[in-house]
Amino acid sequence: MAALLLVVTALGSAPRCTGQMNLKSPQNVSVHIVNTNFTLKWDWDIRNDPNVTFSAHYQRQKFEDEDYETVLCKNGKLDYGENGTNWTAVSGCQNVMLTECDFSAFMLTECDFSAISCFLDCYNVHIRAQKGEENSQWSSIFQFAPDQIAEIGPPGVQLKSTDGIVKINISPPETNQKRKMWPNDLRYTYRVVYWKNSSNSEPKNIIIFPRDEFTDFAPETTYCLKVQAYIKFPPKDGFFSPEYCITTDKVWNGLPRPAKLNIHALNMKFLLKWDNQYDQNVSFTVQCLSGFFRKLYEDYSHNWDTVLGCNNITIAQCDFSSAVHFSGTYELRVQAMSGSNKSHWNTITFDPKKQNEIGPPSIKVNASNELLRVLVFAPGESENKSMSEFYDLSYRVFYWKNSSDAEGKPKVEKQPSFTIPGLTASTLYCLKVQAFSPGDNKDGHFSSMICVRTLDGEASFLFILGVFGVAILATFIVIMFSFGLYRKIKYVFFPSIKSPSNIENIGRPTSSSPYLLTSEESTEKCCIVDNILIEEETIQTTLKDYNHSKQSSRDSGNYSNEDDTSGSRTSQESSGQYTV
Ligand SMILES: *[C@@H]1O[C@H](CO)[C@@H](O)[C@H](O)[C@H]1NC(C)=O
Ligand SMILES: *[C@@H]1O[C@H](CO)[C@@H](O)[C@H](O)[C@H]1NC(C)=O
Ligand SMILES: *[C@@H]1O[C@H](CO)[C@@H](O)[C@H](O)[C@H]1NC(C)=O
Ligand SMILES: *[C@@H]1O[C@H](CO)[C@@H](O)[C@H](O)[C@H]1NC(C)=O
Ligand SMILES: *[C@@H]1O[C@H](CO)[C@@H](O)[C@H](O)[C@H]1NC(C)=O
Ligand SMILES: *[C@@H]1O[C@H](CO)[C@@H](O)[C@H](O)[C@H]1NC(C)=O
Ligand SMILES: *[C@@H]1O[C@H](CO)[C@@H](O)[C@H](O)[C@H]1NC(C)=O
Ligand SMILES: *[C@@H]1O[C@H](CO)[C@@H](O)[C@H](O)[C@H]1NC(C)=O
Ligand SMILES: *[C@@H]1O[C@H](CO)[C@@H](O)[C@H](O)[C@H]1NC(C)=O
Ligand SMILES: *[C@@H]1O[C@H](CO)[C@@H](O)[C@H](O)[C@H]1NC(C)=O
Ligand SMILES: *[C@@H]1O[C@H](CO)[C@@H](O)[C@H](O)[C@H]1NC(C)=O
Ligand SMILES: *[C@@H]1O[C@H](CO)[C@@H](O)[C@H](O)[C@H]1NC(C)=O
Repeated sequence: MAALLLVVTALGSAPRCTGQMNLKSPQNVSVHIVNTNFTLKWDWDIRNDPNVTFSAHYQRQKFEDEDYETVLCKNGKLDYGENGTNWTAVSGCQNVMLTECDFSAFMLTECDFSAISCFLDCYNVHIRAQKGEENSQWSSIFQFAPDQIAEIGPPGVQLKSTDGIVKINISPPETNQKRKMWPNDLRYTYRVVYWKNSSNSEPKNIIIFPRDEFTDFAPETTYCLKVQAYIKFPPKDGFFSPEYCITTDKVWNGLPRPAKLNIHALNMKFLLKWDNQYDQNVSFTVQCLSGFFRKLYEDYSHNWDTVLGCNNITIAQCDFSSAVHFSGTYELRVQAMSGSNKSHWNTITFDPKKQNEIGPPSIKVNASNELLRVLVFAPGESENKSMSEFYDLSYRVFYWKNSSDAEGKPKVEKQPSFTIPGLTASTLYCLKVQAFSPGDNKDGHFSSMICVRTLDGEASFLFILGVFGVAILATFIVIMFSFGLYRKIKYVFFPSIKSPSNIENIGRPTSSSPYLLTSEESTEKCCIVDNILIEEETIQTTLKDYNHSKQSSRDSGNYSNEDDTSGSRTSQESSGQYTV
């Protein structure tokens, strides 16, 4: 950022003070750059004086920091004049009689002797009119960074029509130029606008590679086209080439090319299919080319490789998984042949990373009474090609009660093993899982739906009821005790363990099961209840202690009701494992 500027005095070529009263300054100074052609233009009202000449001076502001910001230049925020080099004459723009001058040679000479940043530096230019000894004031300054204002010239175009195909050969805009504004020819993308010359047909607009083919042109027809090069970043459109026209051949007499090429790409298994529209027995050959070659300007026709197992095949499909990697783009082409009668190749572009679809994961689900434990196996894992090797996978889980069909918001999980808590016991839940890669903006296929019933919640409910009942019983005992009726009560209760019917039915009038532990209940729950029963003895002493125990028994109840870490779950789960 901290652009270091050369500090130089700006006294250089101060205008002479003699006789500048009458002569006006040139106006609207501007610089136009196409490739490395530099043109300076200005306005001059001929009525001012027709017999004048013009001379331009310039000043360079050099950015020595690598992190220069030429944007500053464009916005004119720099303190030019003070920090730049001395103003010096622009050769090619001295004593000119027109209102423009070409200073390409001057710039290229300047740049030959300086750092690579020459076209990135910031320049100030101004101009004045002269007549005899008389000079005008300097014009206002035009400031520019060549790299920013330069435009891309037109590319070179060659057309050739053979066997019903029109081949195009594009050369980059600065071909054969020693000094280039854009040294990397691979940066360009080419846009073609083409149309049938005859009718007033709508022009078509397509992107092509430097060496490409037009395979869908009608026979014996004249087509015209023009080509433009552009850069994607920072975005910059170039000039269109002149129009070129070509007339196509007579109708092609060979086998028609294989039609309707399409690619199925699932879990990194790639299948190319096409229509077998032939009457005679034909065989096919499939070839593959790294997409990199198509960007080049050289002839890449020898770089195609025949796909292993797809040479001279009779079925209209080819598994080319082994021929491509995950990254990069590829070209695939198919040719039909019958004896010595061959078709043209038909070509399709393939980008594995973009086009590969992520298949459904497989899932295993264990049900507990309030949660589901889910284990997800990444798509492709069963075929030894786990998609988690290629993508940074997360999982989206949709689950819902079978009774309602609302799917609700999905749960997103990063790990393949997770739980879905907070469910209702003894309820049928359905779920489906999808793998997705947030980084690649790619959603996988859904697993098939799996429906699982959570385990019976009655046991734990009864347990709470049991604890509650014991607490009430304790209260009852304490009260009885303090009223001195203990003996009488003992006679009523303890000979037979049977509880009073009013306690038994609290909250569950329809239930006939005993409120104490049922045979289904697990050992750990028994242990908790044991503790409470033990506590019960101490309760009998003071009312204060009783209050405390009531508190802890409620806590214990909540604990067994909500949490999933109790040991009892394991024994329950083994009874319900589901797999999809
Ligand atoms: C700028 O001009 C002054 C005066 O003509 C001269 O002394 C000085 O060396 C020049 N500086 C550069 C960097 O050319
Ligand atoms: C400079 O440009 C302005 C705006 O385009 C125009 O009105 C003016 O006439 C130009 N000056 C000359 C001397 O042509
Ligand atoms: C321009 O210069 C030519 C010759 O130098 C001269 O003949 C002509 O009169 C001049 N015109 C004006 C308008 O000064
Ligand atoms: C540029 O010139 C200004 C004004 O003369 C001065 O204050 C500043 O320090 C100069 N910048 C550098 C980097 O020398
Ligand atoms: C650049 O200038 C040269 C010489 O005048 C010319 O032949 C060439 O066509 C120009 N290039 C562009 C892109 O304008
Ligand atoms: C294109 O069409 C125009 C008029 O329709 C004709 O004059 C011209 O010769 C045609 N160009 C070519 C290359 O056929
Ligand atoms: C090639 O096949 C096409 C289409 O079936 C047929 O019309 C043509 O005659 C064949 N050419 C030769 C040389 O066999
Ligand atoms: C194609 O080949 C099969 C067996 O190879 C043969 O029976 C059939 O007659 C052939 N069809 C044609 C049109 O040649
Ligand atoms: C292609 O296979 C056919 C039979 O399937 C055979 O007759 C022909 O010679 C093979 N062509 C090549 C180039 O291998
Ligand atoms: C389900 O429970 C069985 C037996 O306890 C266990 O082996 C399996 O890993 C569990 N599955 C899940 C998805 O937790
Ligand atoms: C997966 O790999 C294992 C070990 O490399 C092999 O035993 C198994 O057959 C492979 N399965 C498939 C479907 O390729
Ligand atoms: C889920 O509910 C539908 C009706 O809503 C019912 O037809 C279907 O049998 C239920 N599924 C299962 C597995 O019970």
